[in-house]
Amino acid sequence: MTTYNLALIGFGGVNRALAELIRDQPQRFASLGFKLRVVAITDLGFGSLVQPDGIDLATVLAMPRGASFEGMPGGSIEPRNEDVIKDSPADIVVEATFTSPGDAEPAVSHVRWALAAGKHVVTTNKGPVALFGQELTALAKDHGARFEYEGAVMSGTPVLRLARTMLAGLALEGVQGILNGTSNFVLGRMESGLRLEEAIAEAQQLGYAEADPGADIEGSDVRLKVTILANELLGANLSPEDVDTTGIQNLSSDDVAQAMANGHRWKLIGEANRGSDGTIKASVRPVALAADHPLAGIAGATNAVSFKTDLLGVVTVSGPGAGRIETAYALVSDIIAVNDYIKGAIRV
Ligand code: HSE
Repeated sequence: MTTYNLALIGFGGVNRALAELIRDQPQRFASLGFKLRVVAITDLGFGSLVQPDGIDLATVLAMPRGASFEGMPGGSIEPRNEDVIKDSPADIVVEATFTSPGDAEPAVSHVRWALAAGKHVVTTNKGPVALFGQELTALAKDHGARFEYEGAVMSGTPVLRLARTMLAGLALEGVQGILNGTSNFVLGRMESGLRLEEAIAEAQQLGYAEADPGADIEGSDVRLKVTILANELLGANLSPEDVDTTGIQNLSSDDVAQAMANGHRWKLIGEANRGSDGTIKASVRPVALAADHPLAGIAGATNAVSFKTDLLGVVTVSGPGAGRIETAYALVSDIIAVNDYIKGAIRV
C-alpha cells in the first residue's frame, strides 16, 4: 500500500485534528488505499520538527501550547518553513496557517515553495486561492503537482469538487450561498430578539465568530469565498475587490422584525451570476429571502450553496462551514484527490 509523507504547516486546530485522525483511525485511510505518515511539522509556536521515518503523533499532540520542538531529534525552536517545505521528504504539504486577506501571506509563499519543489499541496486557506488561484494551479501543473483546496469555501462540506464532477454535464448559470456561519447565526439570534451586538457577543462565546468578528459581519470573509466560486465554477477571473460587498452591520432589530412579519428572513448572501453578455458579476449583501427560497431555512452556523443549472434547476448543498474536525475532513478529501491523481483514477 502506498504511504504518503506529509508536512503539516501550522499545528493549530485544523492540522491537529488531521493528526488525530491519522493517529487514531489508520483504517479510514487504509480503506482508501493508502497510509499517511507525518514527517515534518512547522508552527510559529512549537518551531519545526523533521523526522523522515515518521513523527510520533501521540507525543507531539500531547505537547502543551508554549512547548517547543527544540531538543527533539530533528527539532528546532525556529519554524524554518521555507527549508522544511523545500527540503523535507514530504510528498504532500498540508498548509493550514494564518492568512492575511490582503496579500494571502504567509500562506501563499508556503504554497509557492511547495509547488515549485514538485510537492502536492492541500490547504483550507482561502486567501491564496481567492487571490492567486489560477497562478498556483498553473505552477502546480508546471511541476507535475496537485494544488487542492476544497475546504477554502465551506470547510468539509463539498462544493468545488462536487460541482466539477457531479455537475459537469450541466451549464452552470450562477451560484448563490450562505457562506459565513457566524453572520447566519447572528441573524438567527436577531430574529429571536437579540440586538446585533448581543448576538455577535454570543457568537464569540460559542467560538463561531473571530475575536475580531469584522470579517464575518462585514462580508469580507464571504467576498473571498464568492471570488473562489466565481473563478472556479463560472470561469471568471475576479479579484476580491471586484465583488461588491455589504455586510450585515447596518441591519437593525427593526429590519429583522419587519422582514419576519412579512414572511421573509434576512440572510447574508454571496452570489456570482453569468450575465446575458457572458460576464460574471459577483456580490455579497444582505437579502430578505421569501420563506420558500432554498436558502431561507438554513439556520444557525450552517452554510449552504445553491447551484443554478440548466437541466436540474437549482441544486442546493448544505452542511458545516467551519470547525476543526469538519475542516480537517476537507484536507482528507484533498489527499484522496491527490491519491486519485497519482493513481490516474480521476483528473479534475
Ligand atoms: N469565520 C468563518 C465562519 C469560518 O463564521 O463561517 C470559516 O471561514
